[in-house]
Amino acid sequence: MSEPSIFQPFSSNYMINLPVVDNLLKENQHLLRQEPLKNTVIVYVHHALQTSINVINSLLMLGAKPAFIYILGKSYSENKAVVQHLKALGVTYIDSSAQIGFGEYKRAFKSDINYLWMLVEKHLEDRISDILVLDHGGHAIQSIPQTVKNAYKIIGVEKTTAGTMGYTSENKPDIPIINVAGCAAKRLLESPLIADAVSSKVESIIKTISKEKICAVVGYGAIGKSVAGVLKSQGKQVLVCDKNSLISDNDSLEDIIEKSDYIFGCTGTDLTHNIVHSIVQTQGSKVFLSCSSEDKEFLSLLKEITNGKDFYQNKLFDDVLFNTKAGGQIVLVNGGFPVNFDDSGESVPARDIQLTRALIVGGVIDAIKMRQGNNDFQNNLFKLSADIQKTIVSSWSSERLSECEIPGLFKSIKLIEKESLGVMPMVSGIKAVPVGRSGLRKFG
Ligand SMILES: NC(=O)c1ccc[n+]([C@@H]2O[C@H](COP(=O)([O-])OP(=O)(O)OC[C@H]3O[C@@H](n4cnc5c(N)ncnc54)[C@H](O)[C@@H]3O)[C@@H](O)[C@H]2O)c1
Repeated sequence: MSEPSIFQPFSSNYMINLPVVDNLLKENQHLLRQEPLKNTVIVYVHHALQTSINVINSLLMLGAKPAFIYILGKSYSENKAVVQHLKALGVTYIDSSAQIGFGEYKRAFKSDINYLWMLVEKHLEDRISDILVLDHGGHAIQSIPQTVKNAYKIIGVEKTTAGTMGYTSENKPDIPIINVAGCAAKRLLESPLIADAVSSKVESIIKTISKEKICAVVGYGAIGKSVAGVLKSQGKQVLVCDKNSLISDNDSLEDIIEKSDYIFGCTGTDLTHNIVHSIVQTQGSKVFLSCSSEDKEFLSLLKEITNGKDFYQNKLFDDVLFNTKAGGQIVLVNGGFPVNFDDSGESVPARDIQLTRALIVGGVIDAIKMRQGNNDFQNNLFKLSADIQKTIVSSWSSERLSECEIPGLFKSIKLIEKESLGVMPMVSGIKAVPVGRSGLRKFG
């Protein structure tokens, strides 16, 4: 049998070259020859951006069959050309369903997840040996039908922190999950990339803001700091608010919003939850821009100002305008969805985000090794292997040359393990050792 050709089992002139992913596959050539995913059903939840194609390509190189791959995107980030390319491979791509109204993104997404599992369940056949769930937010893993869990070995790979929240030593997941979200490489290196990308996407909007206008950045974490930096570098007046009062300007959130003309939401929560009634009484004009996820950043405000409005799915991402009774105007940019997903096929430049894409492939390789090495693996949240992280960070940093300082800890396997959340996988009968930091201290 001929060996799969390194690096592109399918021909696509749409696929970007990601040397870090290629290098990881090259390091694992012995696995490519074994085609370990040939009888595996793969459920993949993702942002349908161009570099996702490289992840699917990697799965195919590891032996996955398109007919056994089920993919679900997110309506607000989905790039149509990417979806078309993936569909052309013969995978089952679930189109995001229509929302039933404003602010109902999560409900639509969860119903798509249930539909996905219904399809998987219907098409499971004798030659399927196991299931791999590459999740983004935890919903796919939490919604696996019990009948499927009873009948198949399932391993999860979780890509977001939100998807790993809530697991503790008392409340373990009911399948083994490789914690890509909590790995040192993602935690320490990815958020500045995302923050830079989000702020560079909002730069064109920021340029249009005149100097006398006041901008508020709510949520002064990685993304908030970066957005505030761009605003300040362009000479804008900036107020900062965080629920952590140590890093906030003195005023309350309500006061800050009242004083501001532009509000950049960077919290990852519904920051308008308790203050919507004061916002809708505004006399001036206010523009709200989400830099986080889904439609959650201004969800209460979105629901309030669309109450009674006709809803059209094809206008979901249009700016929402609302005239207040006091003569003011509220603009919710992009219908409350993040401003950095603009159908360009990219949210973070491919050269940077290949770190994350390689870490996902690393999670798949860990899952394969876990399955091959130990048929009796536990249900727990496992660290992503430190050696895989080291390989990825080393080739990623050499790609970026001297553009950023890579923390020295990525030279030490022990330190990478220490900074990665989750438990160590069982190796040759040695019991899992809890090593980790704050979020998972309770494991053991
Ligand atoms: N748009 C994108 O492309 C993209 C990509 C990845 C992640 N995200 C999302 O963006 C959000 C922010 O990311 P980050 O890396 O900056 O997170 P972060 O945890 O570094 O920062 C969030 C900050 O918001 C503050 N905060 C939380 N709730 C608040 C509230 N109600 N009021 C005031 N402050 C509050 C927190 O104290 C924290 O300082 C996250 O939800 C993340 O999932 C967006």
